[in-house]
Amino acid sequence: MLIHSAPQLLTIPGGPQRGRDLGELGIIENGALLIREEKIIEVGSTPELREKYPDEPTLDASGSVVMPGFIDPHTHLLWGGDRAREFEMRLEGAHYLDILKAGGGIISTVRDTRTASLESLLAQTRPRLMRMFATGTTTAEAKTGYGLQTATELRMLKALLALDNEGPIELAITFLGAHAIAPEYKDNPQGYTEHIVNEMLPIVHDWWDTHAPRRQRMPFVDVFCETGAFDLAQSRQILEKAAALGFPLKIHADEFDNLGGASLAAELGAASADHLVVTSDEDIAALANSETVAVSLPCTPFGLAHCDYTPAQKMLDAGVILAIATDCNPGTAWTESMQFPIALACRAMKLTPAQAIVAATINAAYAIRREDRVGSIEVGKQADLLLLSVADYRQLGYRFGTNLVKKVIKRGRVYSVDVGYYQTA
Ligand code: NIG
Ligand code: FE
Repeated sequence: MLIHSAPQLLTIPGGPQRGRDLGELGIIENGALLIREEKIIEVGSTPELREKYPDEPTLDASGSVVMPGFIDPHTHLLWGGDRAREFEMRLEGAHYLDILKAGGGIISTVRDTRTASLESLLAQTRPRLMRMFATGTTTAEAKTGYGLQTATELRMLKALLALDNEGPIELAITFLGAHAIAPEYKDNPQGYTEHIVNEMLPIVHDWWDTHAPRRQRMPFVDVFCETGAFDLAQSRQILEKAAALGFPLKIHADEFDNLGGASLAAELGAASADHLVVTSDEDIAALANSETVAVSLPCTPFGLAHCDYTPAQKMLDAGVILAIATDCNPGTAWTESMQFPIALACRAMKLTPAQAIVAATINAAYAIRREDRVGSIEVGKQADLLLLSVADYRQLGYRFGTNLVKKVIKRGRVYSVDVGYYQTA
């Protein structure tokens, strides 16, 4: 199929974009691309490709920016129940970490997830995935972490593998048994840490070996390094054990307190360090000297009605590889659309729309180490693309709270996702 006449084709070439190099879109005006089966075969101008492939079936992209599908590199999209009451409590003045300490927050979602069957978890999550896809996300990272006990964590892994298999969104799966201190270990965080290191990680390792299809790589192992969750030493203990077992690493760091988690991630060669609101200059320097992607989650301070966001300008000055994600979760940031963090990043972190788009595509792909297959429109890559309902890429970021995606192409298959206006009989 030949997709042609795109006023702007955003190729985003050349791999992840570090520091001040962020924002190179590689725009082809009146662009075209040839896709066959699941892959991108050729990219160029419309006159050139139309002449070369006169008999190819076509898709007219007139009036539409064509760009790579969004990669959402940080989500907790699988959970049971919701936290609407907690949202009200926070508006009345309660703090997120105090609610967690009192057995609410993440722990209340843990209760609702432990009691949900596999089928119920799948049924609650599918509509979220549908909204993600309809708003342009073609690949997403997805974490466990609402089980905090082996049986439920494995049920979550099983559910995520099933959802990945159903498609169309591809999932990069993360084991987050270290999301909070399990209620059974409420007064013994070190005990739960040992349980993760000695029991859960080896079990997950063996379970994955026998249950995951070959095309799925090893899951990431992630830790919530934070006051009231896992301290720096416990985070190190968990991540070092995970690395020894061959798991790639991620970390939640500097969401509320600076414990040094970002430097730990850089030291251990983690794929990413995420949140990064109260990150120190020293941590920023460590990230800049590493291949660890800084994944900013601007929907989280927005969702918590906080004023502080990731110090993105400092990070770009230092030479950090910056990505953005939704953090889709029931507590702090329930949004499925990558278009919203793009809009927030432009305002609260002063990214240009071009920088935010790169942070949401190739750099996001690098945060889940899939930059070899997705995140840009280059020959040989998977045909995961978007046709927007607008002709100028800057409409992304400029506009918010609405969906600018008209068609999603996933592995070469075309899905119409724009809302029509239909009269029923
Ligand atoms: O990334 N901070 C820890 N984890 C999530 C929130 C999860 C929840 O509140 O349920 C986050 O923001
Ligand atoms: Fe998170």
